[in-house]
Amino acid sequence: MASHINSVLKQAILTFTSKPELFTPNLNALAALLDKTTAEDVNLQPQFSTESLWSRPGKAPVTCIDIYEDQNITMGIFILKPGGHLPLHNHPEMYGLIKVISGKVRITSYSLNTPKTLEVDRRSFKDDPPPALVFSRKKILTAELVSSEIVDTSSKPCMLEPNDKNLHEIESVDGPAAFLDILAPPYSTLIPNNGPRLCSYFAVLSQVSPNVFKLQEIKSPSWYWNDMFPYTGPEPKL
Ligand SMILES: [Fe+2]
Repeated sequence: MASHINSVLKQAILTFTSKPELFTPNLNALAALLDKTTAEDVNLQPQFSTESLWSRPGKAPVTCIDIYEDQNITMGIFILKPGGHLPLHNHPEMYGLIKVISGKVRITSYSLNTPKTLEVDRRSFKDDPPPALVFSRKKILTAELVSSEIVDTSSKPCMLEPNDKNLHEIESVDGPAAFLDILAPPYSTLIPNNGPRLCSYFAVLSQVSPNVFKLQEIKSPSWYWNDMFPYTGPEPKL
């Protein structure tokens, strides 16, 4: 019998290669399957829940486990140390789904091109270059803080879209935490007519109106790095 994680993988590929009219029902089916996914389905090793692993000298604050990648999707697991976090980062022109499979995380999300951010950009247009030029030259984004929620294994999958919740920061709460991450298309692909689909890190530069912030692109923070661990769950088969 096919493993549950294999069903998730197949549905993810189907979703992100589907015709536009079938995208939403397929995405809903993917979210429903992902919602039922547990640490056991990917054979998450119990050592990642122990304090002793994370207090080991030189241990990276984040461990990544690659499960699958092709030209359409990436599937993997991120494990955060107690009190660890992924810096605020973007997902250029991408969709993403997150399902917590161990522990608890706080996800703080920002959206792009919302009515509020577009209004801020319109108002500042007289004084500054247009937003597109600001983005390309100064790497400053106008983004709306749309949610800061704590999610655990009982929570529905969290979704991000090319604009909606496209930037997020994820931190573990009350101990280590792990989540399954599906991204489409992968960071390793090109953005058509644009160039590499780079993952960039950001810091809040200033608040410009209620819940609207200017975010400045920064280098990867020195406190953030990750190591890799091999995937030990059921082999993905297409
Ligand atoms: Fe992310």
